[in-house]
Amino acid sequence: MKNTIVGTSPWRKEGYDKVTGKAKYVDDLIFPDCLYGKTVRSTIPRGKIQSIQFDPKIPWDEFVIVMAKDIPGKNRVPIIVHDEPFLAEQEVRYIGEPILLLAHSNQAMVEEAVQYVHITYEPLPAILDMEDVPNAEQIQYGSDNVFKHIQFAKGNVDEVWGKAPVLLSGKYETGAQEHLYIEPQGVVACASRENGVTVWGSLQCPYYMHKGLTVLFGLPENKVRVVFCMTGGGFGGKEEFPTNLAGHAALLSWKAGGKPVKMIYSREEDMLATTKRHPSRTYIRSAFAKDGQLLALDIKVFMDGGAYVTLSPVVLSRGVLHSFGPYVCPNVRVEGKAMFTNSNPYGAFRGFGAPQTVFALERHLDEAAYLLKLSPVELRRKNFLHQGDTMATSQLIRESLNLEQILDKALVESHYTEKCQAYADFNRKNSKRKKGIGVSMFFHGSGFTGSGEVMLASKAGIRARLDGCVEVLTAQTEMGQGAFTTLAQIVAEALHLPLEKIVVVNPDTNLVPNSGPTVASRTCMIIGGLLQRAAQDMVSLLHEFAGLPMEYTPDDFATAVQKYTQEKAELSIFHQYQHPPEIQWDDKTYTGSAYAAYAWAAYVADLEVDLVTYQAEVKDFVAVQDIGKAIHPVIAAGQIEGGVAQGIGWALFENVSLEQGVMKNHQFSNYIIPTTVDVPSIRVFFVENPYANGPFGAKGLGELPMDGPAPAVASAVAFALERPYVRAIPLLPERIMNLVEG
Ligand code: MOS
Repeated sequence: MKNTIVGTSPWRKEGYDKVTGKAKYVDDLIFPDCLYGKTVRSTIPRGKIQSIQFDPKIPWDEFVIVMAKDIPGKNRVPIIVHDEPFLAEQEVRYIGEPILLLAHSNQAMVEEAVQYVHITYEPLPAILDMEDVPNAEQIQYGSDNVFKHIQFAKGNVDEVWGKAPVLLSGKYETGAQEHLYIEPQGVVACASRENGVTVWGSLQCPYYMHKGLTVLFGLPENKVRVVFCMTGGGFGGKEEFPTNLAGHAALLSWKAGGKPVKMIYSREEDMLATTKRHPSRTYIRSAFAKDGQLLALDIKVFMDGGAYVTLSPVVLSRGVLHSFGPYVCPNVRVEGKAMFTNSNPYGAFRGFGAPQTVFALERHLDEAAYLLKLSPVELRRKNFLHQGDTMATSQLIRESLNLEQILDKALVESHYTEKCQAYADFNRKNSKRKKGIGVSMFFHGSGFTGSGEVMLASKAGIRARLDGCVEVLTAQTEMGQGAFTTLAQIVAEALHLPLEKIVVVNPDTNLVPNSGPTVASRTCMIIGGLLQRAAQDMVSLLHEFAGLPMEYTPDDFATAVQKYTQEKAELSIFHQYQHPPEIQWDDKTYTGSAYAAYAWAAYVADLEVDLVTYQAEVKDFVAVQDIGKAIHPVIAAGQIEGGVAQGIGWALFENVSLEQGVMKNHQFSNYIIPTTVDVPSIRVFFVENPYANGPFGAKGLGELPMDGPAPAVASAVAFALERPYVRAIPLLPERIMNLVEG
């Protein structure tokens, strides 16, 4: 039967409910007798809590008050390292750290009451810069404040430096970034000893939250339930953080005898108190032959992890594993460190460490091209990775890979060569406005790193109903990225049924299996793959045992399901992740296949810098990528457009202004993100190169578009200003001014 759904762009599964206002976000849920929760936070970066006083101006007996000592289970958020408390016990480690919780039926009253809790501290020495060497009193994690240290090498870089004709070194810096999902963090919780804990929320990972709550309350798995509510954006910000918030609301409800407690952050609180992208500093030293051949790369990456580990080890891991780019290099040494600081913990953010290192390497290559008197494009071309080559991790490129095709498409669509010439002419003739164009080449690994998918052992499945509809059962969440539709298309195609026959069950831990988190560019490729195989098995079963003809209509399908169900059993099929056997990874040496598959891309930014205001304005953007297969081309292009806008924001506008480790500009009015007038038309192109193990050839794409814009934009700024060393973002007007004048 013919392929009719994958590769087309039908209406989104949740689209009707969203545009008609029927979709329920967590704040739309109405519970009788609901209390509103608020958090009292630390006001110093580090110290011992000495006293907590409740101002008699407030009728405290009307309030529910929760402190660390009220926690029934373990006061630790269980992610990678169990170091972060849900509520501070004796010591606080960053400004904004939650210390106690308040709830009241009157929302205005609880919001006001927060300032009447007076906390005194004995201050302790904090550490606020990731590269400061801590003294003994500042050590707060392990023996050296290092959350994670990674090292790996190929060849021997030290043998190259003495002999290589061209050497270059540079330091590259990227700032923190706020997710700014449209919908702030929010949950509602009902918790009691009798009924267990139920949380409704805006979140990416129902089973992460589920695990966190079982630990916090010391409850068995079947006494905890997490229900996904339609979610207005995540970008990684709702990967781990919602577990903390769910814990808070549930603790208040528990103490309130099971009354529902709603906690919805205001935008200010959300920006102040939730995780952000890790700030980074990357040092690169490289060696080239005279013709531009890359001989050695020595890369050192520092990431600021903040005051608790959260996901920093894996962010660093993805960062270093994307640091060497899509190039062949015989000698590579990579070292990475994620550091403790007394800052608000940094966490997951689309790209997960890769945007930071891709920025550093791609900038570095442009500088090398300048030194070598080659065009940035030529230099990259000379060093491209091909099928049969190995990466810095010794990963063999098994699949076909044609970076030339991706790059050429980007150059043609952007009129790169003509514009290089035209802009050089324009810049000679104009002193107030300068034009520039820049290219970046990069990849993004699909799915969890290394053996991560094996350890997750995700389970997903489908269930056929008697009416001939088929339910999709996964824990994958819909946060605007189109997962419900994309997964439904894969199932519809594999079952040869129209899309309307596919029902995506709302992720609710009582109803769906643990298919892992909705992160890491894994949903389409990994979960889609499990669903495709489940659907193929379902068709085979119906052919074999229920008389489904080889060519069939939806009615034939329904009839066969009825027959199967009557004669045998309910027809549901679940698959568990199986790692492709040729994909091996050694976590000790950091060698092998870090990812089963990669998406590859070439991005071109075209911009203008105003030398009166020192503002850069992106005029055109071309994004060409190989994501295997676009299951829903409109959704896929939308993902790319959104990621590029977010990348342009990170490169030019978004400045998290930190003071003592906390975001000072935590308002929409002074944390500037690009609006529609700041974002050019983003022209998206797919080079389809189906991946054998992906559903209908698909790989991951969610994070990819965050990796490439910043280096392309910075490169275009370098071109426009004729300043080759553009090494730090965001490129705010003051930074551009310094480049011009420096
Ligand atoms: Mo993500 S940054 O893998 O939610």
